[in-house]
Amino acid sequence: MKPFTLGIFQYIGPNGTVGSAWQHPSDTSADFLKISHWTELAQKFEAAKLDFLFLADSYGFPALNGELIDASVREGRGIPHGDPMTIISAMAAVTTEIGFILTTSTTVEAPAANARRFATLDHFTDGRIGWNIVTGSSGATAAALMGKELISHDLRYDMADEYVDVSLALWEGSWRDDALVLDKAAGVYADPEKVRLVHYEGDYFRTDGMLNVPPSPQRTPLLVQAGASGRGRRFAGRNAEAVFLAGGDPAVVAKNVAGIRQAAVDEGREPDSIKLLVGALFITAPTRDEAKAKYDEMLAMSTNEGAAAIYAGNTGIDLLALDPDRPLEQTNTEMGQSNLERYLAKDGTPAPLVRDILENFRTTGINGSVFVGSPDEVADQAEAFIAATGGDGFLIQPHLTPGTYDDFIDLILPVLRDRGLAKADYSGDTLRQRMFGAGPQLPDNHHGRRFRF
Ligand SMILES: Cc1cc2nc3c(=O)[nH]c(=O)nc-3n(C[C@H](O)[C@H](O)[C@H](O)COP(=O)(O)O)c2cc1C
Repeated sequence: MKPFTLGIFQYIGPNGTVGSAWQHPSDTSADFLKISHWTELAQKFEAAKLDFLFLADSYGFPALNGELIDASVREGRGIPHGDPMTIISAMAAVTTEIGFILTTSTTVEAPAANARRFATLDHFTDGRIGWNIVTGSSGATAAALMGKELISHDLRYDMADEYVDVSLALWEGSWRDDALVLDKAAGVYADPEKVRLVHYEGDYFRTDGMLNVPPSPQRTPLLVQAGASGRGRRFAGRNAEAVFLAGGDPAVVAKNVAGIRQAAVDEGREPDSIKLLVGALFITAPTRDEAKAKYDEMLAMSTNEGAAAIYAGNTGIDLLALDPDRPLEQTNTEMGQSNLERYLAKDGTPAPLVRDILENFRTTGINGSVFVGSPDEVADQAEAFIAATGGDGFLIQPHLTPGTYDDFIDLILPVLRDRGLAKADYSGDTLRQRMFGAGPQLPDNHHGRRFRF
């Protein structure tokens, strides 16, 4: 088995994947609006040689029928949420190797505005930036906030394909690699023959313009996607170089992994041209009993109301309003599909009852897998999970910040390294090179290459 790709999951808010862990006395995530909170975390993760820090984001927030949900506000779940783009430069200034993957939605800003910020950040990070392309969780509230209607689920992905194309046209097509001259004596900044306008006209987006940022180390940031609905998987096959998947039942994850690799093949790409990274919580301590105590403490910070608020924000479904003794009647949503599909009948297994869905969501959260035990036991569970699913690694979810990460770094990483399952150091100059051993620009079989000048 190859060494795992390992990234850290955070967002600019009081954290916790299962429950409101920010309330724990040792947790520092309520400091999410202090720059030092982030610079210290970035340095810690780099010292541990982790591949990247991922910052989730959404303009949306949990709401039902146009009203805020009290539990969301009271427990700090889904609200508040700061803008992650603003913290990247500060973290880049105190690190040199770790990557930063940042979420923006294809339903909010004009693609050219988003592309320009990523191009600038690719310079400021020396090629360490990745873009988590989402069509937006909590879509209904995000749309209302922007004064727009919610766009239907599959149409959002059709639009996202074009949004990515406009971005690629700008990144790949505006400047030739050798356009910058920077000759002070001659007073020539760039060669006009090697800089051009790009023209793109689609059904939803158009541009007639240029990216006014010179080519950055990767040109196109590492392209990442998170959304495992059928339409989401097709989007991933076409565009993504890494996909964040929810964990949970290994058989379901294995199907998603295989489906996304097949979607890449359908687009003329190699099956391993996409890294499949599974969201998972690692709860460990020197002994199993101590780890179990940490796990129980975590569950005690997770309420039905808080879990239902997050579920509602994601899917639009209020689990607390449904008959607990029946399965979900709704099989489709125009909001996030993945967390609805997760609880439908499949492969002969009957659909869970609403009370079981709520309990599962309360205890595993939005991303599913929770590994609990001594360091060796957790390493066994992680290894078995990758063997069963064909994934490439994990996105390590927050429980206690920084405690859960310290446990991972101090207790689990050494075991993984002994087994050859974690890298001992960084190699390569940019995020793409560190993840794939190739780059720094998009690989030739990615459709974005057709936009090259
Ligand atoms: C590990 C992981 C991280 C995610 N991060 C985000 C995020 O930061 N912002 C977001 O809007 N959606 C995020 N998503 C995706 C949403 O959960 C949701 O699936 C998606 O926005 C809707 O797409 P779908 O209908 O294809 O599921 C993430 C999903 C996973 C599994």
